[in-house]
Amino acid sequence: MAQSRPDHDPVSVGSLEFWSLTPEGREERLRILRDERPVSWQRPAEGSMLPQEDDAGFWAITRHADIQAVSKDPATFCSGQGVMIEDVPSDILEAASSFLATDAPRHTQLRRLVSAAFTPRQVKKIEAQIADQARRIVDDLIEAGDCDFVDQVSRRLPMWTIYEMCGLPVARREDAAHAADGMVSWADPDVRAGLEPADLLNQSLVTLITIGLELADDRRENPGEDLMTALVQAEVDGEQLSEEEIAAFFVLLSVAGNDTTRNTISRTAEALTRFPDQRKILQADFDGTIGTATDEFVRWASPVMTFRRVATRDVELHGQQIREGDWVVMFYASGNRDERVFTDPHVFDVTRSPNPHVGFGGGGPHFCMGNMLARTQLRALFGELLRRVPDLRTGEPVQLVGNFVDGVKSMPCTLNL
Ligand code: HEM
Repeated sequence: MAQSRPDHDPVSVGSLEFWSLTPEGREERLRILRDERPVSWQRPAEGSMLPQEDDAGFWAITRHADIQAVSKDPATFCSGQGVMIEDVPSDILEAASSFLATDAPRHTQLRRLVSAAFTPRQVKKIEAQIADQARRIVDDLIEAGDCDFVDQVSRRLPMWTIYEMCGLPVARREDAAHAADGMVSWADPDVRAGLEPADLLNQSLVTLITIGLELADDRRENPGEDLMTALVQAEVDGEQLSEEEIAAFFVLLSVAGNDTTRNTISRTAEALTRFPDQRKILQADFDGTIGTATDEFVRWASPVMTFRRVATRDVELHGQQIREGDWVVMFYASGNRDERVFTDPHVFDVTRSPNPHVGFGGGGPHFCMGNMLARTQLRALFGELLRRVPDLRTGEPVQLVGNFVDGVKSMPCTLNL
């Protein structure tokens, strides 16, 4: 017989109020859970697009070791039933998530189709182009003067990189990136501007699918060296990918490639303002420090705050009885501040080593495919910024409300040149 549920935890990490706090505010609560109830039973997430009457709640996993354990056991904690703290209709899930929300063997087959483009060797090939773009972005920043850092800097390199790899014409890139934003911003009343969350999600999805399919058509006619050409020519078990599958790839790459790196750039610029000693260390020996620093940028920013799994069987974790079908949510941002793993986790330390952060996931089959690409962008951009705008300072960030990506919508900066 199934055991009765524990009471919902008094320290709530599912409410909109929680997700509206600053990272430091959220961390105060997460620390209590890590110390006292590392696997806690939480009320259903508030503000859900499709509230379910029988939704009893979800398990919050807040310690580093448990995030790794869940990530590395996909047979028990699967991705195929959705990965957000949000139930979306299954057609939307398929259209929006591609292989992110699948399990082996399908996941292995689909991921393999694009993973060749993300190996260190392939990323090395476009490193010079990324460096060139970083240089141009900083040229433009210097010309613009004091401005909004997100608009002028953070959003540009990730957008350029992912769409250059996909082969998307420049004229379509802004629209695609804007729609990718909508996919992770539907909980934010300011971004929604009067739309219902589901309407913003649908609109954004339709835009991305349309742009992805236009590109696919074009690449069938005019094959190139890009990822979209690889996808329209790919076969799985002797069959070509369907239009829906190709579009879903484009949606996943758009969302994964834009917001993550953008927000890491913004939070890092903020951290370099708040911790001038760390800025000096990087400036004094950029080449010698940037390797450890990029990992610290990602640990510090933790731009992907959560991912969900669903338990495929009854299982016990830290004395809690997780039932088959329960939602299990990993709080990466909490794992990255776990005192059991990191010395002084609240200090931004560009020389931190080792730095086994879970910013790119806790290991296992879904580990971030773009991690080398993200590191290359961070290295190129901060190399330019720290050398050419050495006294750049950021102001107060305006934060996105939502339970998935820690987004910075805007943040003023002064160049002090
Ligand atoms: C600092 C930047 C980034 C961060 C923090 C980040 C974080 C993550 C995380 C946490 C996951 C889930 C891991 C898991 O479930 O175990 C993930 C998956 C993924 N990331 Fe990233 N990511 C970043 C940049 C990128 C970039 C630039 C791309 C390029 C397109 C990318 C593509 C992907 C893809 C395709 C997946 C799904 C992998 C799968 O399901 O097999 N990411 N990322």
